Amino acid sequence: MQNSLFIKAAFSQPTHRPPVWLMRQAGRYMKEYLAIKEKHSFLEMCRTPEIAADVTMLPVDLLGIDAAIMFSDILVTAEAMGGKLRFENGAGPRFDNPVRDKAGIDALLNPDVPEKLGYVADMIRIVKQRLNGRIPLIGFAGAPFTVMSYLVEGKSSRDFKITKQLLHNEPALAHELLSKIARVTTDYLNMQIEAGADALQLFDSWAESLSWDDYREFAHTYVSEIISGLNRKDIPIISFCKGSSVFAPLMAQAKPDVISVDWNADLAALKRSLPKGIAVQGNLDPHILYAEKRVIKERIYRLCDSMSEEDGFIFNLGHGIMPDMPFEHIKYAVDLVKEYKWQK
Ligand code: CP3
Repeated sequence: MQNSLFIKAAFSQPTHRPPVWLMRQAGRYMKEYLAIKEKHSFLEMCRTPEIAADVTMLPVDLLGIDAAIMFSDILVTAEAMGGKLRFENGAGPRFDNPVRDKAGIDALLNPDVPEKLGYVADMIRIVKQRLNGRIPLIGFAGAPFTVMSYLVEGKSSRDFKITKQLLHNEPALAHELLSKIARVTTDYLNMQIEAGADALQLFDSWAESLSWDDYREFAHTYVSEIISGLNRKDIPIISFCKGSSVFAPLMAQAKPDVISVDWNADLAALKRSLPKGIAVQGNLDPHILYAEKRVIKERIYRLCDSMSEEDGFIFNLGHGIMPDMPFEHIKYAVDLVKEYKWQK
């Protein structure tokens, strides 16, 4: 796998073109996904290794991307700790027992990860067999702050009001909760490595809502703890956060191999500001995929051209594919990157 375009770029080695994969590359914009979803709930899909493996393989077979990402959700760690998780169609995740005080935090379990989340390891083994060395498989987990925000709010939030009240009023309690999540997450990612994941991505999707000081204290601390706790040999770690165009200097201190960047940043300038050896992933505005093909082409070339002086670039979106994006535009975007050649 060390010779794959994706792993080379993740370790900042030269490649003749950028590797490409897309966040949420398996999802509702694909009729093949919707056909599976008609028969099973989302959580059933995640929990059944054969089905999750089938869904993981959809974009491999239909888009020809350069890396697969396992099909699961960031909230399975919180569920393993005792969160009563369900997904409502259209309304996103819900926890029926939000965790907001000392009693709630004390009641959370310190689960035996292979026992509770072994279905993810089983799925990884199936996918690795099916990929048969063609492309790498990315495993992932939610970063503690983002997972905490769902456990505390009980659902998706726009302002994270209750989460921030806990951080600001009861920082010691917040740290207790974050430490518990970080421990489970480290075990969970180590289980994924053991099962065969070739790379790992940490999703701190909602850290963008934090101030610089709060990001450092409540998000960065735990991302660092997790990265330093991984038994990782040659496994690159990608650190994703919406807000990385601001927090990148701190994210770099946690020593990931790759920082995944939202679309607010000038990617080449951000790359040059990072310590040598940290690659970047991103950062096309996903909404470009709603535009006409000539615009998609112009923007993809502009982004790839801007990275021509840099080793260590993985093409991706700044955030995930949306369910109503045209499949044809997504395939067109992947093909464009695969045909692109740097004039180095
Ligand atoms: O990228 C991939 O293809 C891998 C699979 C993946 C999913 N969720 C599948 C999914 C990954 C990496 C995630 C991570 C995830 N889950 C994040 C971090 C990434 C990000 O988008 O910032 C977050 C915040 C979650 C929590 C979550 N799961 C939400 C908020 C939702 C609802 C979103 C919506 O649009 O309804 C989910 C559900 C979810 N996770 C779906 C998929 C394919 C949709 C489920 C469905 O089919 O209804």
